[in-house]
Amino acid sequence: MKKLSFIFGTRPEAIKLAPLILEFKKNTDFEVNVCVTAQHREMLDQVLEIFEIIPDVDLNLMQPNQTLSKLTAKVITSVDVYLENYQPDLIFVQGDTTTVFAVSLVAFYKKIRIAHVEAGLRTWNKYSPFPEEINRVLTSRLADFHFAPTETSKENLLREGINGKDIFITGNTVIDALFLAKEKIENDFPAIPGLAPDIFENGNKNVLITGHRRENFGRGFEQICEAVANLAQEFPDVNFIYPVHLNPNVQKPVNKYLSHQKNIYLINPLGYLPFVAVMYKSDIVLTDSGGVQEEAPSFGKPVLVMRENTERPEAVTAGTVKLVGTDSEKIFSEVKTLLTNSAAYSRMANAVNPYGDGLASKRIVKIISESLT
Ligand code: UD1
Ligand code: UDP
Repeated sequence: MKKLSFIFGTRPEAIKLAPLILEFKKNTDFEVNVCVTAQHREMLDQVLEIFEIIPDVDLNLMQPNQTLSKLTAKVITSVDVYLENYQPDLIFVQGDTTTVFAVSLVAFYKKIRIAHVEAGLRTWNKYSPFPEEINRVLTSRLADFHFAPTETSKENLLREGINGKDIFITGNTVIDALFLAKEKIENDFPAIPGLAPDIFENGNKNVLITGHRRENFGRGFEQICEAVANLAQEFPDVNFIYPVHLNPNVQKPVNKYLSHQKNIYLINPLGYLPFVAVMYKSDIVLTDSGGVQEEAPSFGKPVLVMRENTERPEAVTAGTVKLVGTDSEKIFSEVKTLLTNSAAYSRMANAVNPYGDGLASKRIVKIISESLT
């Protein structure tokens, strides 16, 4: 029996690996071991709980306001011990976080093969997103299996000299997770912690907001808050629903600038099901998140991305995602257009799934079953 380790640390890695872990667990050819670095703590636990995944090893590394270097060092030393003890045949990492790069480096040192899920996303800008772009590039250099979500991501890898025989286009496992969640919420709409049960029943429009990118810390977040505050004042009948990321660099400005208006709902990060449920009920999504850019188009929700560039150009091309940067006037005017101009809204509100068909995990299991000898 081949031994597989899934090693991850943050909310999005957990969401995107959960369907794959569940799929591998159905296959008796593999022993599945889950190790969490817990680079995130509360936000990771929310996902593990919903997908009923109990880690075999929990390294519990998160520290408040951790620095990149300290976190990297801790992941390297702790994962080294874990891999020494478990000795897997293959490790799985997902995406572009500090956990992903640091784990891949240790696996390389130990000559353990690496499967990289969501490989090949690029902006070609070293500092945007920071530090994720370089985490991805370095992980691609170390990985043995590259599971690219789209044709574009495969092309990016080929451009960097990655061998085409090691690249597989699978779609993104986030759509597998989203479809699982969608089915559940359509059967039984969950309560949304922090929001009144009837919030979606009075016919008011809803704008969902998330944000956490490091390159937006400081001035960027101040501008985002200014835009949201002005919008909430101009549109008192619109609900602005903002589950606030736990990073103190986000909490501080958001609570300082946005906690005084009654149609701005600052709430704790939501579990995956309630979050998907809010997205489903929203009219517009305003975000700098990677995963949300992939999910919202599937529901036909216009997404305004508060960044200067994106490694996910497919939904921009499809017309449901638009880059608006962090200039407060630009954010204000783009949201205002979608709230007041129904033709402009309709042009963006098309349900598209450029990132997958919900079968990415099944494809990955098949590829590994056929390749791991
Ligand atoms: C991390 C990833 C980013 C990913 C994001 C998803 C890196 C460098 N960054 O950013 O790529 O898009 O997660 O959300 O890998 N915190 C808590 N509880 C939690 C989570 C975070 O209190 O459950 C606070 C802690 O003070 C922590 C801080 O947030 O030190 C920063 O967490 P960290 O994982 O370093 O960075 P993120 O901004 O969350
Ligand atoms: N998400 C969630 N609860 C929230 C906000 C987001 O479950 O309150 C989910 C969202 O559906 C998506 C993922 O978290 O799948 C995105 O995480 P995040 O934006 O933190 O990271 P990124 O995708 O930018 O790396």
